[in-house]
Amino acid sequence: MTKSRYTVTAALPYANGPLHLGHVAGVYLPADIFVRFLRMNQHDVAFICGSDEHGAAITLRAKKEGITPQEIVDKYHTIIGDSFQKFGISFDIFHRTSTELHHKTAQDFFLKLNENGKFVEEVTDQYFDEDYQQFLADRYITGECPKCNHAGAYGDQCEKCGSDLSPTELINPISTLSGKTPILKSTSHWFLPMNRHEDWLRPWIKEGVLDGKQQHDPKAWRNQVIGQSLSWIDGGLHSRAMTRDLDWGVKVPIEGADGKVLYVWLDAPIGYISATKQWAADAGKKWEDYWTGDTKLVHFIGKDNIVFHAIIFPILLKEHGGLILPDNVPAYEFLNLEGDKFSTSRNWAVWLHEYLERYPDKVDELKYTLTSIAPENKDSEFTWKEFQARVNNELAAILGNFVNRVLVLTQKYYEGKVPALGALTEEDERVLTEMAAYPAKISKLVYAYKIREAQSEVMNLARLGNKYLAENEPWKLIKTDAARVETIMHIALQITANLSMLLEPFLPATAEKLRTYLGLELVKWDEAGRTDILKAGKITQKPEILFPQIEEVLVEAEVEHLKASQKENNAASADVKEIAPQKENATFDDFTKMDIRLGKIIAAEKVKKADKLLQLTVDTGIDVRTIVSGIAAHYAPEEVIGKTVSVLINLEPRKIRGVESQGMILMAENEKGELSFVVPEKEFGAGSEIR
Ligand code: 2FM
Ligand code: ZN
Repeated sequence: MTKSRYTVTAALPYANGPLHLGHVAGVYLPADIFVRFLRMNQHDVAFICGSDEHGAAITLRAKKEGITPQEIVDKYHTIIGDSFQKFGISFDIFHRTSTELHHKTAQDFFLKLNENGKFVEEVTDQYFDEDYQQFLADRYITGECPKCNHAGAYGDQCEKCGSDLSPTELINPISTLSGKTPILKSTSHWFLPMNRHEDWLRPWIKEGVLDGKQQHDPKAWRNQVIGQSLSWIDGGLHSRAMTRDLDWGVKVPIEGADGKVLYVWLDAPIGYISATKQWAADAGKKWEDYWTGDTKLVHFIGKDNIVFHAIIFPILLKEHGGLILPDNVPAYEFLNLEGDKFSTSRNWAVWLHEYLERYPDKVDELKYTLTSIAPENKDSEFTWKEFQARVNNELAAILGNFVNRVLVLTQKYYEGKVPALGALTEEDERVLTEMAAYPAKISKLVYAYKIREAQSEVMNLARLGNKYLAENEPWKLIKTDAARVETIMHIALQITANLSMLLEPFLPATAEKLRTYLGLELVKWDEAGRTDILKAGKITQKPEILFPQIEEVLVEAEVEHLKASQKENNAASADVKEIAPQKENATFDDFTKMDIRLGKIIAAEKVKKADKLLQLTVDTGIDVRTIVSGIAAHYAPEEVIGKTVSVLINLEPRKIRGVESQGMILMAENEKGELSFVVPEKEFGAGSEIR
């Protein structure tokens, strides 16, 4: 069989915050499993991802953190890239849309469409914030949804009812910059007349047919992807502006278009192409091979991205010409967390980078749990209890237990050597036949994007092994029929060897450990299912416990941590909305009781398990002391070292998260909740009194 070529993309994450488990379960992990599986089946694969660094998501975040958009994308590109790497997501490239190559690729793409008359240039009235002298696109404007009356709908979308909106449809629109009602002002933009495309989109999505040719198998597409796309088309596709009046993004490459950039949903998916170009250049390949011909293009995304990947990007690709359209768009529903939606603003999330910091040795445990509950067809939920149950009752009790038993008994009876296979009983034959059927069964499921079921079939092979051992009880039989035990153990070892292959896409770290114990190399998927992977006489190693038990304390601590960070977050956002009114009068005595001085911060580090706290070492002029300060969300440790700041030094010492804090750093806080040190205007030394 000729092996086909695949370009697999995973939605480019916005570089405006870290990743949480919802993102992982519903995009990156299934995409990685799919790709690892394809590679084992010797498909030629490009696995593409990168940071989405433009759009209002970035500029609004930058404003909130009081730093530049570039600083925001640099910060989160690093955090996200690092967690992908530690979590073992095997992208061929993790690129970024702020690169020159991407800007050029997106601009050329835009120009080609424009020159071929694929856009319509139009002057329309758009909302404009007079205070900020800025047009208000997308998330820069909120108001009441005209469809469901939700009060916090955005200019491009209502998150409550999922409707696609344009800013002028909002009832009582408010600028998110000034909080004021915007005015209407005319501006010109390039629009994609999507209504021109309804006629080919419908049969392409419904039947997989384009230009009279069968392009993909519509039965392989998820119902919700077909359903959502068709309902969009049936509702009538409108023109959508492909440019914005913003200064952050890919500049519109046309004279006179100053102050205009490409719409982020035009530029981001082109990011898949520019990333492929960069990867191909680095790897000595031709990027065109991955975007033309028989290559299968597969977009792994979350359900909120369906319209962009099943309608808008396909229109753009087709209008460009010479490029393939997606073969499938496996979209995932949402993952909830402990009874509630994941929410960045409420800090209700398990952040991937934090999980990896706390449990660097439990990567496969998380992968297994997330795949087991992956929201393939409906929303699902992560709880720490479920994590504990999946690890203890499945990974440890079924897989870990089987592998451990087999390898330990092989040590005990045969000093690690694989025993020979003797005469087979009917049951042996049945077990070997069943074992041999697993690779094809799992393969079929993965190709159908049923990854959750595929993983559970791998576990069924471990279950088969456990049952076989439990029924044959080699540990009893060894006393009476040592020859028969050799055959039983030989078969159990072949099952273990098969597991080491079939686990590879799902739990690569565990698969690698098994291969090390068995002295095997990673082989092709086609070679799994064989009953003679391990030759008699081959030496195997003593195993370690694969999956240590998850204790109750971990579950309790994690749930507690979640609730505490949400509370800290609520407290932080509750009292910063307005400039506080004046407090009751204080006497001069009250004031002089306070010993406020300039102090110099000489060292700083994060307080463990407390997102908001920094532990500072401060030279007060009198002594050097430790002060815990709730500024970690505003300052990184390295930013504060060397600063001379105001310190209340005679505040009663108190323990904060186990660290004694001997004083308080004084901070100014504005109405947006941003913090600033109170610093001397001249260079005064530590110890100077403030009166
Ligand atoms: O929804 C999101 O997180 C977007 N940043 C996804 C972009 S996918 C692609 F088009 F780049
Ligand atoms: Zn709505």
